Amino acid sequence: MTSRVRKAVIPAAGLGTRFLPATKAQPKEMLTIVDKPAIQYVVEEAVAAGIDDILIITGTAKKALEDHFDRNFELETLLERKGKTEPLAEVIAIAEMAKFHFTRQGQPLGLGHAVLMAEQHVGDEPFVVLLPDELMVSRGGTVKSMVDAFETYGASNVALREVPMDEVSSYGCAATEDVADGIVKIPHIVEKPAMEDAPSNRVVMGRYLFTPDIFEYLHKTTPGVGNEIQLTDAMAQIANGSGLYGVIDNSGSWDAGQKLDFLRAQVELGLQHPELGADFAELIKQTAANL
Ligand code: UTP
Repeated sequence: MTSRVRKAVIPAAGLGTRFLPATKAQPKEMLTIVDKPAIQYVVEEAVAAGIDDILIITGTAKKALEDHFDRNFELETLLERKGKTEPLAEVIAIAEMAKFHFTRQGQPLGLGHAVLMAEQHVGDEPFVVLLPDELMVSRGGTVKSMVDAFETYGASNVALREVPMDEVSSYGCAATEDVADGIVKIPHIVEKPAMEDAPSNRVVMGRYLFTPDIFEYLHKTTPGVGNEIQLTDAMAQIANGSGLYGVIDNSGSWDAGQKLDFLRAQVELGLQHPELGADFAELIKQTAANL
């Protein structure tokens, strides 16, 4: 196994049923937040953490994802002819951020199954998995800390967030032993435990760094809830095998696959936008005054 982490996998084959009707005929990953599709934030996050090879797992009706990260000769020619140099540079840069690859899941048999689709591409390398629903406030900072933790401990790790105890039952929840500042060892992990059974208030976020033996565990994982291959089940096995660490990150995220949090992302990222932010703040003030 090589030690440098250079590959990322973004599973984007889910059907986005929480976001109907918007997702009836378009991928939820392509829904726009301020002025770019949600998945572009996640790709930029991976690139900011030093990743240069990105495999996106797609499915039915996801062609727009491939087009977005490809060159568009017709559009580029038109922009060039019109002298629109800034948008031209911007559309070219999207396709050149990293080396993009795509593979299809065929059937949406769960997140674990989607990760398994990456086996051949990843080969014998450590790799990062980023869920495109979750946009991190830290941008590349979380994944960079995970890469650093891998370099120190040589084992898989996952980003963890501390939540109030009455929220743990919505997440994968980790038993933890403190190892260093912000780093824990995870002896075991449980999916959506009842509050009284939860081993801690530290829950799994949508960022994972796996050693390639995760694929052996995924092959052995039998379908669980909803007849899906659950990633958490394979993570529980890796915790018992080559080991699993947690990188605690309480800086926050937006769940772009959920309607209300998607709106929060629009507002907060809109306010941060270098060109639109100041005018948008004014607009919000006026709107709030009229409520
Ligand atoms: P989610 O359950 O949040 O996504 O899966 P979903 O199924 O698209 O959304 P809802 O719940 O129906 O609204 C988390 C991530 O795993 C991917 C999804 O695309 C999402 O990014 N996923 C999930 C797959 O790639 N394949 C699957 O079989 C399931």
